[in-house]
Amino acid sequence: MDFQTLRIPRHVAIIMDGNGRWAKERGKSRMFGHSEGAMSLDEVTETAVELGIEYLTVYAFSTENWNRPGEEVSALMSLLVQSIEDKTPKLLDNNIRLLAIGDLSRLPREVADRLQRCIDETAHCSRMSLVLALSYSAQWEILNAVKNIINDKISVEDIDEKLFSDYLTTKNIPDPDLLIRTSGEVRISNFLLWQLAYSELYFTETLWPDFRREEFLKAIADYQNRERRFGKTSEQISITN
Ligand code: IPE
Ligand code: IPE
Ligand code: MG
Repeated sequence: MDFQTLRIPRHVAIIMDGNGRWAKERGKSRMFGHSEGAMSLDEVTETAVELGIEYLTVYAFSTENWNRPGEEVSALMSLLVQSIEDKTPKLLDNNIRLLAIGDLSRLPREVADRLQRCIDETAHCSRMSLVLALSYSAQWEILNAVKNIINDKISVEDIDEKLFSDYLTTKNIPDPDLLIRTSGEVRISNFLLWQLAYSELYFTETLWPDFRREEFLKAIADYQNRERRFGKTSEQISITN
């Protein structure tokens, strides 16, 4: 594999999709797919740490996912509590800080408490930040920012990209360099609409439970072959490099 240790993206965001289809292909319940998907997250997190990635943001549950059948929603919430509980020691061992973005007020009490405990316990960790997008949607986040800007009576001339970014849940987190979406869907599904403005996008047919170390390395290698021009010409970019 054409893989370089240089040009590692600072921030990778992932839409972890395809758990249900993965399970269906095997004649199993959707929850079986979600449990396998949790293992992919472990492996990708470990690989990201090894590579020196500083931020890994994963879309775990969207605002729209609240509209799934009640049974699936509660099973997903239980899986979440269990995973956070099981993973806290490993996060600490690997010096990984947990953060969460989204409308956390909608989470069941037990999930919110467990999450907050893990966030507090790992607050001092500095090797990588694992950002869980939970009950998250970008339109909710942007509207929330607008409401807070108005509430704070910010004057119109002070509103610029930097100020607006500081009103988002991702305040102090650099924008993703790379967005990965698994399972063959080619859409953003209300994820990080503002922050993805200049991210490189990578779509793969691989279903999330099958997306392990090798697949992740393939996505990173693909990213390393992109030329990020940010509106400039190719010639301008080669001069600065
Ligand atoms: C992604 O897998 C996990 C969540 C959205 C919680 P899906 O559950 O969306 O799996 P598919 O897309 O139905 O295969
Ligand atoms: C996006 O996946 C949300 C998460 C991965 C958590 P969905 O499966 O909910 O997205 P759509 O509905 O296919 O766009
Ligand atoms: Mg899906």
